[in-house]
Amino acid sequence: MTYKIITAPGDGVGPEVTAAAVRVLDRVGEVFGHQFQYEEILVGGASIDGTGVPLTESAITAARSGDAVLFGAVGGSAWDQLTPPLRPEKAILGLRQALGAYINLRPGILFPALREASPIKDELLGRGFDLMVVRELTGGIYFGEKGTRDGKYGPEAYDVEVYSEFEVRRIAQKAFQLAQTRRKKVVSVDKANVLESSRLWRRIVEEVAADFPDVELSHMYVDNAAMQVIRDPGQFDVLLTSNLFGDILSDEISMLTGSIGLLPSASLSSGTTGIYEPIHGSAPDLAGLDKANPIGAILSAVMLLEHSLGLTREAQAIRQAVDATLEAGHQTGDIHRSGATIHGTSDLASIICRRITN
Ligand code: IPM
Ligand code: MG
Repeated sequence: MTYKIITAPGDGVGPEVTAAAVRVLDRVGEVFGHQFQYEEILVGGASIDGTGVPLTESAITAARSGDAVLFGAVGGSAWDQLTPPLRPEKAILGLRQALGAYINLRPGILFPALREASPIKDELLGRGFDLMVVRELTGGIYFGEKGTRDGKYGPEAYDVEVYSEFEVRRIAQKAFQLAQTRRKKVVSVDKANVLESSRLWRRIVEEVAADFPDVELSHMYVDNAAMQVIRDPGQFDVLLTSNLFGDILSDEISMLTGSIGLLPSASLSSGTTGIYEPIHGSAPDLAGLDKANPIGAILSAVMLLEHSLGLTREAQAIRQAVDATLEAGHQTGDIHRSGATIHGTSDLASIICRRITN
């Protein structure tokens, strides 16, 4: 089969890690007999420099024309002074909106080989963890009304957290469906002791739960959740969150695995297309140095194969190659463990490619 992948390398280490993921896709294509065709779009700072805006209409049209989007990272100090609608981050927010990608899946898995790299004490890691953050991605405070005005104490700014029943219901349904394929536990994160929007969230999640009697639902306030993921990460299966809470908790969870450079994400719509990106940012201090960890981007390509193309054997072959590479002690410099061999981005990708077999 031939598939069309839209690449959006972006800024900082985005181009390096995206190139690594593309090489891995090509390798799996070679082994399993598929052809991947790529079309590159400009996003973020790269687009601002080239076109004056972080995301053009033509980039959106191209993104819609492919089977999926492989996204790198956006942002950097060169564009920090721009007004909000022109900031590089608008590219990813705009793409999520344009593709209707309201479901954000962020797996947090402790690789057995990297146990010692986790900053969490061994006894707290217990049997390790394998959880999934299901984050609502096109609503909440990110997309609510915002602005500046004159307030009681002078000039003030506001961002409104707003959720409709519809938005909560559709993301909750996804979380429960996913839980049915896993360990059948959903923890819904909110701040229902304070926020009206969280009380609506909780009510709708409970309604949805009634349709999934085989899945156990519990609720956790976000402050407690931030503590529990460190105290006992193994207790979680699916964590259902709003846009903002999921943004924060997923970075925290990534660190438990040993490095934020390891974790992928998938942003899915109700169709088959999606945006796949490592959750690390553009890491400008590492840009161009061939030091960034390509595994987050490579595992994002794995999620692309699974969710947008339905190529599960191919996805599994890459996962195994990544596991075997880490087991054999190969890694980039962001992971702290003794006795490992440190490689550059491109080298590590080559080592993973060599381990991909049918
Ligand atoms: C993420 C990022 C984005 C977000 C930024 C770049 C807009 O932090 O994907 O987690 O907040 O969603
Ligand atoms: Mg984030």
